[in-house]
Amino acid sequence: MNGLELNKIAAAIFIAGIIAMVSGFVSRAFYGPDDAKTRGFWVEVPEEGAMAAKEEEIIDLGTLMAAADIASGEKLAKKCVACHSFEKGGANKVGPNLWGVLSDVFAHKKDFAYSKAFEARKGEAWNYEKMYAFLENPRKYVEGTKMAFAGLKKPEQRAALMAYINSMADKKRPFPAPVVNAASVDPEAAAAIATQ
Ligand code: HEC
Repeated sequence: MNGLELNKIAAAIFIAGIIAMVSGFVSRAFYGPDDAKTRGFWVEVPEEGAMAAKEEEIIDLGTLMAAADIASGEKLAKKCVACHSFEKGGANKVGPNLWGVLSDVFAHKKDFAYSKAFEARKGEAWNYEKMYAFLENPRKYVEGTKMAFAGLKKPEQRAALMAYINSMADKKRPFPAPVVNAASVDPEAAAAIATQ
């Protein structure tokens, strides 16, 4: 990431702001102030400092995955190893071996006895959105699952674990594309996306 690229990003955000402002004026000119409230839209363009301080409120999985830390995912996997192995060819334990699961389907191990709840979804492809929801609250996402695990509450933890699982696989699942919303993405994450 060099200064020039940062300038480009700043310029893009600035131009987006100008366009938003101009379209606000135009819509008011056409529809009058009352209509503008319902028809127009207003994009807030925060100051750079404010952007850095602002916590991401709307979770964008693409942005989250781009910033996910594989090493902390490996550490977090300690919460799972009582029941799961992660390595290629690893044994099933209380739960199935998880190698390559993200690029695979629900109930991906033929030699594991899944619950009825999982059997019912057998063959459906896993992806980041689904596993993100599953890991947050397994029993809510797959009602009737026998995975006795409360879930990982922090979005970053779920992202890190998925990044770790994916990093091990031969066939990797590409991360979802980040939705670049200048108002909600923090500059560091935006920079990481810009250099990909
Ligand atoms: C107490 C044991 C236990 C723990 C701890 C546990 N799991 Fe599971 N997990 C299971 C069982 C059992 C299943 C099979 C679910 C079923 O058949 O309903 C499962 C299923 C899964 C699946 C679906 C596999 C497939 O083939 O579709 C994923 C993914 C998964 N676990 C990830 C994790 C992760 C990541 C962690 C750690 C954060 C974790 N699990 C912690 C027991 C556990």
